[in-house]
Amino acid sequence: MSASLNITSATADPGLLDLPWNMPLDEWPDRYIAALPKGISRHLVRFAHLSGHVIAIKETTDEMAKREYDMLRTLQRLDVPCVDPLAVITNRADDAGEPLNSVLVTRHLKFSLPYRALFSQQLRPDTATRLVDALAVLLVRLHVIGFFWGDVSLSNTLFRRDAGAFAAYLVDAETGQLYDGLSNGQRENDLEIARVNIAGELMDLEAGGRVDEELDPIKLSDGIVAAYRSLWKELTGSESFSSSERWRINERVDRLNDLGFDIEELAIKTTEGGTTVRIQPKVVDAGHHQRRLLRLTGLDAQENQARRLLNDLDSYTAKYGRKDYDEEMVAHEWLAKVFEPVIRAIPRDLKGKLEPAEVFHQLLEHRWFMSQDQNRDVPLAEALSSYIDTVLRHRRDEATVIDPPTGTFTLAIPLADGEADWRQNV
Ligand SMILES: Nc1ncnc2c1ncn2[C@@H]1O[C@H](COP(=O)(O)OP(=O)(O)OP(=O)(O)O)[C@@H](O)[C@H]1O
Ligand SMILES: [Mg+2]
Repeated sequence: MSASLNITSATADPGLLDLPWNMPLDEWPDRYIAALPKGISRHLVRFAHLSGHVIAIKETTDEMAKREYDMLRTLQRLDVPCVDPLAVITNRADDAGEPLNSVLVTRHLKFSLPYRALFSQQLRPDTATRLVDALAVLLVRLHVIGFFWGDVSLSNTLFRRDAGAFAAYLVDAETGQLYDGLSNGQRENDLEIARVNIAGELMDLEAGGRVDEELDPIKLSDGIVAAYRSLWKELTGSESFSSSERWRINERVDRLNDLGFDIEELAIKTTEGGTTVRIQPKVVDAGHHQRRLLRLTGLDAQENQARRLLNDLDSYTAKYGRKDYDEEMVAHEWLAKVFEPVIRAIPRDLKGKLEPAEVFHQLLEHRWFMSQDQNRDVPLAEALSSYIDTVLRHRRDEATVIDPPTGTFTLAIPLADGEADWRQNV
């Protein structure tokens, strides 16, 4: 290994030193490599094992690696969903002293999948819509904090299941730039990039026969613009009403909470001699349900999963007459009597299939379908064993998908089930 190897890392995992940095990444022996699905990229990206985790290694230039590392750290601090930067490694050289590319190391985002791995044979319009919607939310969140992405696309995003929807994570920050705030022109620019890239990505799939006949790439890519605009307006738009309608302030807050956002600062102005009130959210923060669930139960879930779990907690509260109890106390009871027993009952060999919160969400759906089907209230325990046997067992692992071998894959990866196939089992 080159003596002058230079590692910059926030976490300083000594295991990093054991990786063969003196070899070009594409020549690393298999024993270092983790075979996981990966999106299409210009740079060489490979996954490797490090101290019991999986890391993503991208070979790029010195400057780019450092820049992206710093940018990802900043985004992490700002609570934006993105991959976690681990290290920048520069000054690499092979044994003959020939210089090798610098690398950016990020942590592999657990349970995340590139969009091409989210469907088995063909991408269906409703799945595509959910992907695009998740990307629109991510883009709004980035714009709210003043981040211009510059390369918005499905390939530069990772997706995690979120109670029937998806949560999007930024994976490629190379072209991004952080400003004090974005102009409308900058936002429009990013939106146009998103629209064109998504249309291109979907047409690409179409050309490969990998989309459902019904799927219209143009309509879907226009969809991101519409989804973005309505969310942006709800989050940042001003509203005026007569001062006798002050309840509309609370209503706005409730609407934002429903969308999963909290208002951190709201500007309220009275105009026209006090007869009109104008409100404008100034700082909004995503993760309303996530934070509430975390506060009540210590569970860290995605936004929609959190919403789902909180709904179940609410119905527990109603069902067992716990309305007058302290919210924290009921949450504790629900956790111990409902949530945890379910998660404990998942056989060990099936635990890597899905995140606990997603399992719980799917179980509730499963019970709902069973109840519909059999026209009776199905107890949770009964639904659970049916769910484990008919659904969970047939899924592939999503914590770390083993097939296919690393390499940008353009072919379908073998799935035990498609996007919503589990419903057919019910
Ligand atoms: N931390 C990570 N966790 C999971 N997957 C990752 C991670 N980092 C990279 N990937 C995968 O590698 C792919 C390529 O990464 P990235 O987009 O950063 O490369 P790139 O060469 O900069 O892309 P582009 O061609 O857009 O410039 C991503 O689409 C993603 O699937
Ligand atoms: Mg990329």
